[in-house]
Amino acid sequence: AKKAVLGPLVGAVDQGTSSTRFLVFNSKTAELLSHHQVEIKQEFPREGWVEQDPKEILQSVYECIEKTCEKLGQLNIDISNIKAIGVSNQRETTVVWDKLTGEPLYNAVVWLDLRTQSTVENLSKRIPGNNNFVKSKTGLPLSTYFSAVKLRWLLDNVRKVQRAVEEDRALFGTIDSWLIWSLTGGAHGGVHCTDVTNASRTMLFNIHSLEWDKELCEFFEIPMKILPNVRSSSEIYGLMKISHSLKAGALEGVPISGCLGDQSAALVGQMCFQDGQAKNTYGTGCFLLCNTGRKCVFSEHGLLTTVAYKLGRDKPVYYALEGSVAIAGAVIRWLRDNLGIIKTSEEIEKLAKEVGTSYGCYFVPAFSGLYAPYWEPSARGIICGLTQFTNKCHIAFAALEAVCFQTREILDAMNRDCGIPLSHLQVDGGMTNNKILMQLQADILYIPVVKPSMPETTALGAAMAAGAAEGVGVWSLEPEDLSAVTMERFEPQINAEESEIRYSTWKKAVMKSVGWVT
Ligand code: G3P
Repeated sequence: AKKAVLGPLVGAVDQGTSSTRFLVFNSKTAELLSHHQVEIKQEFPREGWVEQDPKEILQSVYECIEKTCEKLGQLNIDISNIKAIGVSNQRETTVVWDKLTGEPLYNAVVWLDLRTQSTVENLSKRIPGNNNFVKSKTGLPLSTYFSAVKLRWLLDNVRKVQRAVEEDRALFGTIDSWLIWSLTGGAHGGVHCTDVTNASRTMLFNIHSLEWDKELCEFFEIPMKILPNVRSSSEIYGLMKISHSLKAGALEGVPISGCLGDQSAALVGQMCFQDGQAKNTYGTGCFLLCNTGRKCVFSEHGLLTTVAYKLGRDKPVYYALEGSVAIAGAVIRWLRDNLGIIKTSEEIEKLAKEVGTSYGCYFVPAFSGLYAPYWEPSARGIICGLTQFTNKCHIAFAALEAVCFQTREILDAMNRDCGIPLSHLQVDGGMTNNKILMQLQADILYIPVVKPSMPETTALGAAMAAGAAEGVGVWSLEPEDLSAVTMERFEPQINAEESEIRYSTWKKAVMKSVGWVT
């Protein structure tokens, strides 16, 4: 059959904590043409530790590219129309590898990992100057969440990493760096780079000067020679070189020209380009970002200041305030894998629907301590308010409510920091397909929740950045390009008083989750 003729296409790798995807978009209409998704394993070698295999992550990218290309072939779409590839990724997760062999020197230490708690405590005792030293340069609190302390742990504890650093063979990177290096040739000429958004999550990057910060590297004792080059989020970093992988080799020579941490990518994909525009993405965690324009706004209410995007070498940098929730979709995976009360993630909706209430049961999934707005590492998960009447459906419902309550906490903090309350919440991410969750979210926030019909906005943002890059130029970032995007809207349906009562009981439950680890 004759292959369908389309405008230029752009591919995007979306490498999240729970899964990897490759998606192909039509650059003229932003239409998603085909995609493939593979779930990624997480290892928990000790209590509080979370690791992933960097090679499995890379393989999953190859697999997703291959399968997507196959599906495009079945649709009679010519793969040679793919003109650029963007990368978006789980942020902070830390990899160190050998540049001569291409082998990772340890598993990836995942952003959720808590092994560095004592490192953080020790470092916080010797912060130079005032306590603002790290925050004023990076926008981040000193926390186990960010890469610098994970890298410190690898340098202190893994002999292979120490030796490779001494012998000048070690490279450090977040997942974007690991993937771009590998996809552009790896040990045979791979490009070692990251973009400003990912760099801004390492705790080593000065978000004002947009450079690695010498003083921070000295404080964390990180050798600067192992850090990647920092580039903008939209420029050609290198060309795909993966001919050893049969079908994915069809993309050989295609430029990789977009790179954004997944939350920044979603902000771009939701077209939140104006000061004050915000989005909330429901993935493994849940992340509400509000564009603050060219201003670096520092939060008084537990939010982070982060780089939103810099869409071109000569383009200005934009910043965002971010409310980060560690556990959102991960609580559903926990109910599936650890308790076994559901077989697939989708089943949660059915269980929750059966009861339509948690019947006074509250679930605080503080598996990795509490992130924004509390930053409380001593917290651990609790389920409370149980009676003999409580069953698995109520617990499922409480798990969904927990995601919504946590979003309410960060939205409240955002409103206080910004001064102007958000009139509605733009949402995206896999969990937004769950209609019960979306309705609960509108009820608990007491503002409308608005969801694009195509929820893959993270990948879309990475594709936009890649397609708009200088030297590619197949995607224009003018807002009207996406005017055709249809939205689904969820209005609050309960009364305001009931919403407040539920929220204040949640807060009581949160207080009970704190102080489990000393
Ligand atoms: O900061 C961590 C974040 O980037 C992870 O995103 O989509 O895996 O929840 P996700």
